[in-house]
Amino acid sequence: MDADLRRLCARIAAAAGIGSIPLLLASYASDETVELCLESPPDTCPSAIDALPLLYVENGTDRVCSPSAVIGEAIPEKSALGDCCYEVIETCNNTMGIGCRGRPLSIGGTATIAVRRAALPAQPRSELRPEQLAALTRAQRDQLASFWTDLALAEHASIAEFHRVSLELLRFGAPEVLIAAAQRAAIDEARHARRAFELASSYAGERLSAGAMQLPVAMPLAATLVELATNTVQGGCIAETQSAALCMRLVSRATDAKVKSVLEGIVRDELRHAELAWAIVRWAMDVGGAAVKEAVAIEFGARPSRSTPDGAPVGTPDDPMLAAHGWIAPEAEQAVNYECWRAVVRPVGQALLRDAA
Ligand SMILES: [Fe+2]
Ligand SMILES: [Fe+2]
Repeated sequence: MDADLRRLCARIAAAAGIGSIPLLLASYASDETVELCLESPPDTCPSAIDALPLLYVENGTDRVCSPSAVIGEAIPEKSALGDCCYEVIETCNNTMGIGCRGRPLSIGGTATIAVRRAALPAQPRSELRPEQLAALTRAQRDQLASFWTDLALAEHASIAEFHRVSLELLRFGAPEVLIAAAQRAAIDEARHARRAFELASSYAGERLSAGAMQLPVAMPLAATLVELATNTVQGGCIAETQSAALCMRLVSRATDAKVKSVLEGIVRDELRHAELAWAIVRWAMDVGGAAVKEAVAIEFGARPSRSTPDGAPVGTPDDPMLAAHGWIAPEAEQAVNYECWRAVVRPVGQALLRDAA
């Protein structure tokens, strides 16, 4: 197993609370201690534990690092500016890989995404230098525009999915820290969509964005905790962990500096999203008892398909020029997904079932 997959295993196992590692979003790469503040706190400063999800939301969105634990006591009085400040362990994952297609909204088992908005008249401000674009043929630019547009639409749809996850967590009384992390994930996905559309627009030479999504007036929510856990195993523990592994692979192949930096930003966030899914399933198993555990065991026991996705071209060569800009052939993507399932998802899923028995 390569270093990225080993790291992925450690992250999700920790998030799932396996081996008495404390639940939730703890990560272990290059931690450092910083002071973070709540800018608009309540009248009295929250305790350190209560402050963590608030710090996570207020300070996390565009930070290189994520607050993962509060180690200091809350400063009981507000600062001169009225802020509440805390010593926080930040986790930096700058060397980690990524997760790319996120977790598009699923309604009745069908992925739901927006249609692409017709190109806007204004020329985009290119994210790429002219010489980078000039090195690509027109056909390569079109292929990259299509690839990044598909990725952007999937990220855009993930915004809706994480809002639904937030509502489902509220519905079943989940811990606040899980709800806050789901809310933050929706913001992350909006940023991923924007950055992917910026790249797509650069390759296309026209400004691309998402149009309306065909959403039902009443969004269906999980009816039971079993359904919530089942959906989270499928869409989170499996799909988002595979997505994280795939994007790690894309980072390792990309050589264009702009593309690499966009992918690295997505990786940092998608790893947290995968961790969140494992933490949600662990919580659901702990509070939901035998029925949830049985349902989770069935999901982790199912063998995934190795077939090429419907409509994907078969035998597409893995063009190194396109790989430099983030593209991967569908068959290579399938191979990464399968290896992630075999080496990461299945063993961690089995360990989770043993640990929670
Ligand atoms: Fe994403
Ligand atoms: Fe995601």
